[in-house]
Amino acid sequence: MLISFEGIDGAGKSTQIDLLEVYAKNMGKDVLKIREPGGTDLAEKIRTILLDKSIDISPQSELFLFESARGDLVDKIIKPALEKGKLVLCDRFTDSTMAYQGFGRGLCKNTIEKTNSMASSNILPTITFYLRIDTGKSVKRNSKKNLDRMEMAGNEFFERVSLGFDKIAEQNKERVKVIDGEKSISQIHKEILQYLNF
Ligand code: ADP
Ligand code: TYD
Repeated sequence: MLISFEGIDGAGKSTQIDLLEVYAKNMGKDVLKIREPGGTDLAEKIRTILLDKSIDISPQSELFLFESARGDLVDKIIKPALEKGKLVLCDRFTDSTMAYQGFGRGLCKNTIEKTNSMASSNILPTITFYLRIDTGKSVKRNSKKNLDRMEMAGNEFFERVSLGFDKIAEQNKERVKVIDGEKSISQIHKEILQYLNF
């Protein structure tokens, strides 16, 4: 089973994945935790390029880089893990590409649907937790961080990405569960567990 976590930078995805990983392991699950972009030698190298603020990357090249990283991760890691019956927890997946490159950069949504399904071999998460926070909160939570290339894209970009995630959730109600990311860490963890029966 594949579970993805989505939301803007600083929404609390890694915090919640770490908590769920510990919980699921205690329940005897065989868990694999991954984050996108990354997870294979190639994808980690692509990640370095994508987050490097000294490189100027055109929107379509950015899309292909994210999809290349994903293609490698899906083929080498995610597919085999799912075949072995593992619980795969993924920090970002295809919805991030639609939100950031589609809504954020303004690339054609149909193209993104196609490249997403190609790179993911049509694998969709069983459930996606969208941790929703205001963009202002994201800026505050990230204020002490050394910002990467994506995080330097500016407030208007993040507003579009945030609206994008809202639309994706609205259009995929069965799969995408919207969680108020401004609640406490333990409250959010409890809500997440309520959607999962393990
Ligand atoms: P993401 O993986 O979505 O970028 P993180 O899990 O790294 O987000 O969280 C970003 C920052 O916000 C961290 O300092 C984390 O401790 C803090 N944080 C996470 N969840 C909450 C929450 N529910 N309330 C307040 N702060 C939070
Ligand atoms: P990361 O540090 O992993 O995210 P976070 O700050 O949420 O912990 O950085 C990944 C960045 O890449 C993040 O800004 C979102 C962006 N991204 C895309 O633009 N498109 C994608 O398809 C993916 C997977 C990520």
